[in-house]
Amino acid sequence: MRNIHIAKWISATLLGLIQPVAANCECGYSVNTTSSQHEVFTDLIESDFLTIQDISADTDWEIQRYWTPYDPSSGYYGENFTAANVVSNPLKYNYTLENPTTSQLGGDAGLQLWVRSDIQPNGLVPCGQVKTVRDDIQYGSFRTSMKLTSVNGTCSAFFSYYNDTQEIDMELLSRQYANYTLSDSDPSSPVNLVFHSVQSIIDGYQLPNTSTYGRPVLPVALTDEYHEYRFDWMPNRVSFYFDGKWLWDLVTDVPSWRTAILLSHWSNGASGWTQGPPAEDAVMTVSYFKAYFNSSDSQRTSDYQNRCKDPSAANAICVIPNQTVAPGEAAAQNGSASTFFFSQHANMTSNQTIYTGENKAMGLAPEMVAGMPLCAAWFR
Ligand SMILES: *[C@@H]1O[C@H](CO)[C@@H](O)[C@H](O)[C@H]1NC(C)=O
Ligand SMILES: *[C@@H]1O[C@H](CO)[C@@H](O)[C@H](O)[C@H]1NC(C)=O
Ligand SMILES: *[C@@H]1O[C@H](CO)[C@@H](O)[C@H](O)[C@H]1NC(C)=O
Ligand SMILES: *[C@@H]1O[C@H](CO)[C@@H](O)[C@H](O)[C@H]1NC(C)=O
Ligand SMILES: *[C@@H]1O[C@H](CO)[C@@H](O)[C@H](O)[C@H]1NC(C)=O
Ligand SMILES: *[C@@H]1O[C@H](CO)[C@@H](O)[C@H](O)[C@H]1NC(C)=O
Ligand SMILES: *[C@@H]1O[C@H](CO)[C@@H](O)[C@H](O)[C@H]1NC(C)=O
Ligand SMILES: *[C@@H]1O[C@H](CO)[C@@H](O)[C@H](O)[C@H]1NC(C)=O
Ligand SMILES: *[C@@H]1O[C@H](CO)[C@@H](O)[C@H](O)[C@H]1NC(C)=O
Ligand SMILES: *[C@@H]1O[C@H](CO)[C@@H](O)[C@H](O)[C@H]1NC(C)=O
Ligand SMILES: *[C@@H]1O[C@H](CO)[C@@H](O)[C@H](O)[C@H]1NC(C)=O
Ligand SMILES: *[C@@H]1O[C@H](CO)[C@@H](O)[C@H](O)[C@H]1NC(C)=O
Repeated sequence: MRNIHIAKWISATLLGLIQPVAANCECGYSVNTTSSQHEVFTDLIESDFLTIQDISADTDWEIQRYWTPYDPSSGYYGENFTAANVVSNPLKYNYTLENPTTSQLGGDAGLQLWVRSDIQPNGLVPCGQVKTVRDDIQYGSFRTSMKLTSVNGTCSAFFSYYNDTQEIDMELLSRQYANYTLSDSDPSSPVNLVFHSVQSIIDGYQLPNTSTYGRPVLPVALTDEYHEYRFDWMPNRVSFYFDGKWLWDLVTDVPSWRTAILLSHWSNGASGWTQGPPAEDAVMTVSYFKAYFNSSDSQRTSDYQNRCKDPSAANAICVIPNQTVAPGEAAAQNGSASTFFFSQHANMTSNQTIYTGENKAMGLAPEMVAGMPLCAAWFR
């Protein structure tokens, strides 16, 4: 796992003058290793939910508060997304190897998104959802590490959403993946990959195997540990990954509009989709979120052009390490590097939207912040 802790920096040489860079990654982040292939993204959001104390103070995220009505004609429930269902459960302060009971509230550490079993009197299922504050995201590589519920009847979703026809979705239905075992005669831990409208899914529309839908099967139990779910959104294609391994491409009707990225845990009882609602409270736990992306905002674009003096200078473009294994809980809890964050390293380019909450890594034992120079743990 150490290998993924080491950033690889592109250091192309250039004939002639090389402008020194002021800070690392000022010309962006590259998914691919070699400079001849690289596709650069200019902006960065990274959230280490194992250390973020309170998401409501995190300027990168907005807790969603909205509801959809109960539908008497179908009998489907509404959803009520509230702040109470978005809970920060970081690792304990002053975590030590001798005291490995790690999360502050108990249970899995990370950002919890809950679907409650208590249906509200007006037929609403209490659900949890968060959205990036940045909604100027236009192409990029998006990664999140989640541990899913085994309670029947919910959908865990990682998606981009601008409107009902500009949406990229990874949706995981607990009725499909829960209690999966390798020995099942009909193994299925499918992930539903969709360019589609939320409403058609809510309506229970049975998606055929169209070019805007894919349903690869993941060969592991998704409820036992954290796994990385990822999509790389390019103008002509969206490539989906699981624990760093390519899964599927969708190439038809690729969304092109600026967007925000969301994490959601929901249920509405629709027989063709979530089923449920859950018989007991169900939790999805997110250990991190990472986005490397371009901006539709002209100020952001000119900021990039101003700070990027020479893309071929050493450390001007940073290669994003691939997550190659499940970013496991055990590794995270015992302080070994389970994943890589640029934002936990010194000398990074500033001027991007990065949560600067001072409580972010406070009090963690040195091994928790291995590779992260003290006092440089966050952007200024
Ligand atoms: C930051 O990194 C750049 C590129 O590696 C280097 O040229 C510069 O001296 C560094 N600045 C500081 C203050 O360390
Ligand atoms: C990450 O994996 C992709 C797809 O397998 C590959 O093209 C790319 O070069 C890898 N990037 C790094 C930094 O290793
Ligand atoms: C990475 O390189 C491969 C091979 O050239 C290419 O197919 C892929 O689109 C690239 N990915 C990104 C995000 O640039
Ligand atoms: C993202 O922005 C970089 C820098 O401006 C540009 O080179 C690249 O082509 C853009 N990628 C996409 C997919 O728009
Ligand atoms: C959603 O839930 C909150 C918290 O329980 C409650 O205050 C609010 O009235 C609910 N919204 C609706 C439309 O019922
Ligand atoms: C963590 O340890 C430091 C030094 O021992 C102490 O001052 C601080 O109060 C501790 N923090 C918590 C939250 O226990
Ligand atoms: C998975 O198993 C647990 C424990 O037996 C059970 O409570 C839960 O309902 C099951 N979930 C599904 C989707 O079958
Ligand atoms: C979504 O936004 C795009 C871009 O503005 C627009 O072309 C499309 O019609 C919109 N779709 C809906 C359902 O409003
Ligand atoms: C849909 O695609 C999945 C994944 O390739 C495949 O397993 C399944 O049989 C297909 N279903 C239909 C109805 O073609
Ligand atoms: C999940 O719950 C639905 C009802 O909401 C039920 O029909 C289905 O059999 C359950 N699935 C499992 C695997 O228990
Ligand atoms: C930093 O960002 C701000 C706000 O977008 C902008 O006004 C400023 O010019 C940027 N500075 C640089 C050096 O890009
Ligand atoms: C930490 O976790 C990793 C991954 O599970 C494991 O390989 C390593 O042995 C653990 N180290 C300690 C000191 O427990």
